[in-house]
Amino acid sequence: MNKLQIRTLEQYYEKYAQSVSDPEAFWEDVANEFRWMKRWDKVLEWNFTEPSIRWFKGATLNITENMLDRHVSIRGDKQALIWEPNDPHGKTVSYSYSELLDAVCVFANTLKSQGVKKGDRVCIYMPMIPELAIAVMACARIGAIHSVVFAGFSANALADRIEDAQAKLIITADGLNRGAKQIPLKRVVDEALEHVSCVERVIVFDCLGWQPAMKTGRDIWWQDAVEGESKVCEAEPMDAEDPLFILYTSGSTGKPKGVVHTCGGYMVYTAYSFLNVYQYEEKDVFWCTADIGWITGHSYIVYGPLLCGATTVMFEGIPTYPDAGRFWEVIDKYGVNQFLTAPTAIRSLMAFGEDHVLSYSLNSLKIIGTVGEPINEEAWNWYHLHVGKGRCPVVDNWWQTETGGIMISGIGDISPLKPTFAGYPLPGIQPVLLNQEGREIEGADEEGYLCVKFPWPSILRTTYGDHERCRVTYFSHYDGYYFTGDGAKRDENGMYRIIGRVDDVINVSGHRFGTAEIENAINMSNLVIESAVVGYPHPVKGQSIYAFVVCEQEVPEDKQIQARGEIVETVVAEIGKIAVPEKIQFVSGLPKTRSGKIMRRILRKIAEGDTSNLGDTSTLLDPFVVDEIVENAL
Ligand code: WTA
Repeated sequence: MNKLQIRTLEQYYEKYAQSVSDPEAFWEDVANEFRWMKRWDKVLEWNFTEPSIRWFKGATLNITENMLDRHVSIRGDKQALIWEPNDPHGKTVSYSYSELLDAVCVFANTLKSQGVKKGDRVCIYMPMIPELAIAVMACARIGAIHSVVFAGFSANALADRIEDAQAKLIITADGLNRGAKQIPLKRVVDEALEHVSCVERVIVFDCLGWQPAMKTGRDIWWQDAVEGESKVCEAEPMDAEDPLFILYTSGSTGKPKGVVHTCGGYMVYTAYSFLNVYQYEEKDVFWCTADIGWITGHSYIVYGPLLCGATTVMFEGIPTYPDAGRFWEVIDKYGVNQFLTAPTAIRSLMAFGEDHVLSYSLNSLKIIGTVGEPINEEAWNWYHLHVGKGRCPVVDNWWQTETGGIMISGIGDISPLKPTFAGYPLPGIQPVLLNQEGREIEGADEEGYLCVKFPWPSILRTTYGDHERCRVTYFSHYDGYYFTGDGAKRDENGMYRIIGRVDDVINVSGHRFGTAEIENAINMSNLVIESAVVGYPHPVKGQSIYAFVVCEQEVPEDKQIQARGEIVETVVAEIGKIAVPEKIQFVSGLPKTRSGKIMRRILRKIAEGDTSNLGDTSTLLDPFVVDEIVENAL
């Protein structure tokens, strides 16, 4: 694998040029470093019209063979996974590559015994414990398609995802630890299952000793189910284009959609990007603080690092428990060399002052990364100075659930640093900026819609059960391009700065929500007739949610707290706490065009507190409503 590592900026330019002039030869070289059961007949076949994208056509492989078996003979005793519990005095758990292979095989056999077959969908709703990673890999081992649902989603949100994927089995736990709190999971699953009929089995990991109700014939304890299962489980041969997993993500319209990634391309790209962006060396310890419920956790806690034979750290807790020094304590405890977290975590820790970070040496760190949302200059500088001690490069990783792996980023200590700029495209990635008319913008210092004009191995293949939705969402805006939904700027050296979403997607603490999705949730409240949701800048979360709500009856001052409470409760039930609006303003109407379209541009300005120039409001159905909204703005 080391052969794949770029070591200098010159090498980067050289590899990049090669990847553009002959992409097939470039990716064939990369793919040659993996273990395939059968080689491909063709490296790439594609069009962005249908779209139809096939990498390594005709090849078969199993990704877990590349993550585990392949390493066992050369680094079997090396630590593969280190787990740090929520409680700082709790017991660390670690798995060597050999132990992890055994554990994955035991659980893979368990899934088979519970009736799971290749191609079946398995929903995973788990705490951040090693068994979550094991469950993911056990699915991949037998060719079941995993759909991990973040454990902060509500029963209704979980039910939607189970139903959409027609999952046959669910893996969960009694509950989870989160800082000083414990949160039920099995109870949420039970509630979700009242609305869906496809689930035959629920495997429950006993995490907290809570003894939740178990439904006879459906529910089984993990600890009982694995009893007597063998440590040997042949890896299922998978076509390179067989689905590996589904991960639900929000867009600007409708319900969240299931982004589908496939076995071969995802393997090649997550490993390649991990190895290069983090310049991973054999003895390094890598830690990504994301949750495996999001794409970052999939690609850079589980798949990327293990494919490269790395030691990956998994953390059950939160950055502020028991205090704001927890991240730094864990870095010193395990001698972490590469660290990856989110801007929102950095900003929330900044607010606690420098003392927490200054009391740790952080000597082991070599490269520190950020991901999930744009990072502001102040947070970038704090991270670089206090965590990186001014000597570690900050790599800002721009990518998406749909891209599978990091697309634009600093490359280890090789590429130049420029605060707030994500950096260069990785080899194989061909980004462009388009103007309104869909023409490529060539010059420097220009802004445009960020698109990609050539496929890379881990591009999404479809949205589960609805290919047309995939085409319309990503490939129909600009003919021949993958549309990211982000706006970006490019400087004279070709470095990219991501400005943010240009569609109706809000990024709260690095979590994506569609405005329509939150509005639908709010509208479920009995009080509400209609609502409009926009994002506005927030000092810690990046963006926060502002809801303008029209109720059946006018809500008097003294009833507003109660009414807000009811709306919040509805959002918690429909999506989860993470989607609760920070501000809810009751309004008598929404600014709409004569054709009934909500003018979000105006609402966004009001939410931002920028009411000096709201633009032309004369075309609105009821221009006076704007005055009222401005007057009562929160
Ligand atoms: C945003 C997370 C600026 C962007 C990996 C993108 C970023 C969306 C960055 C994808 C970054 C992600 N700088 N913005 N480094 N990384 N984004 O699917 O708007 O949860 O489209 O994937 O987050 O979010 P997702």
